[in-house]
Amino acid sequence: MTPAPAAPGPAAAPGTAAELRRAATRVLLGNWTGRSTVPSRGLYPHQWSWDSAFIAVGLRHLSPRRAQWELESMTAAQWADGRLPHIVFDPATPRGAYFPGPDFWRSAGAGAGANAETSGIVQPPVHAIAAWEVHRADPETSRRRGFLERVYPRLAAWHHYLARERDLGGAGLAAAVHPWESGMDNSPAWDAALARVAPAPADSFARRDLDHAPVADRPTDADYGRYVRLAADYRDHGYDDARAPHAFRVEDPSMNALLIAAEHALAAIAAELGGDAAAHSGRAAVLTKALVGTLYDPGARMFFARDLVTGAHIAEHTVAGLVPLIVPGLPVAADLVATARGPRFGIGQGRLVPSYDRTGHAFDPCRYWRGPGWFNMSWLVHRGLVLHGAADLAADLRTAMTAAAGRTGFAEYVDPHSGQARGARAFSWTAAVTLDLLAGEAA
Ligand code: SER
Repeated sequence: MTPAPAAPGPAAAPGTAAELRRAATRVLLGNWTGRSTVPSRGLYPHQWSWDSAFIAVGLRHLSPRRAQWELESMTAAQWADGRLPHIVFDPATPRGAYFPGPDFWRSAGAGAGANAETSGIVQPPVHAIAAWEVHRADPETSRRRGFLERVYPRLAAWHHYLARERDLGGAGLAAAVHPWESGMDNSPAWDAALARVAPAPADSFARRDLDHAPVADRPTDADYGRYVRLAADYRDHGYDDARAPHAFRVEDPSMNALLIAAEHALAAIAAELGGDAAAHSGRAAVLTKALVGTLYDPGARMFFARDLVTGAHIAEHTVAGLVPLIVPGLPVAADLVATARGPRFGIGQGRLVPSYDRTGHAFDPCRYWRGPGWFNMSWLVHRGLVLHGAADLAADLRTAMTAAAGRTGFAEYVDPHSGQARGARAFSWTAAVTLDLLAGEAA
């Protein structure tokens, strides 16, 4: 195993906002491939779906045109059925550089209509939010290039795919059919649902992630066996949601809150284009009602995921349950802010938001989505705190994020207690959201 590069020492950490901006810029320029941005040169050497959206939000402060390309290249990989795949493989990168790679997913043979080599699952729908932010950064260039005209139909088709094919619970919400789809792969929220999945044999695949990150920071081999089984089953059913067994199916509050915020963004985009904004606002309102009615637990003052195999809430407190703060007009926002401030998440104490309850039975400060603080999630929570008037907490989080980003060399995630770097370094969305916070436009 190649050890992860050491975090720069204090002397290397950028001291001023201008230095931090320059350092973040260097990360994004270094990870740019000519048409899109890799999340990290070693660990994730292709284009990832929700990474691209967060990256575009930061890139717009450096080059609005490049930010447009980022989203255009992502949406160009859309399948005929409307899904945006979670990975778009870079043909210039060796086929075996990442597992599972193009030879595993075999998207070209899928009935649902891939037009490039991609994975077959999806990730949270952050893209319309990013497209609107990118447009707002430079409306003139956006209009001249017809950016919104180009991406709007694709974004609408993407949301339509989720509504048409992924309402597996019948409440109108979008279901994730693989832990990777939630973006929070090994969240303790998925443990019980994953335990029902028979793992693929350990000798049937070879992980590549451990070549680039410490084993203690990554999901376990047992997790990987189950990830592989679920993805292979979906693939072997042609990625057809009506036919696939979907042994893992959950409604995730973060994924659905992002969908609602993205519908609001589509309303703004439609209004700009002279289209039917009301249809998108109406859909956002219906989804908000479904989100609160289905996934909110008033006693716990928290949103929980729902396991669609059992029909029950998964009573694990994860950062996903705070993400509904980004929903405009959320009726339970004040209670959710109280939960964010409470002992499980401890926002307001100079740290990033932990990905999982600091007091929880499965808390692990190092291991990916089982505790570490992630910059994209903290950026979303920050946005929600600003939206709902919790300016003091938002300011504390913003300071914690920019300090940690600079100190850790833009780590993929950090130990939420010590602030120590974990996972990859020079991570794109960490640099991107840092740029956005520095520009003061995260609200
Ligand atoms: N997060 C996954 C990984 O670690 C991919 O989406 O590879």
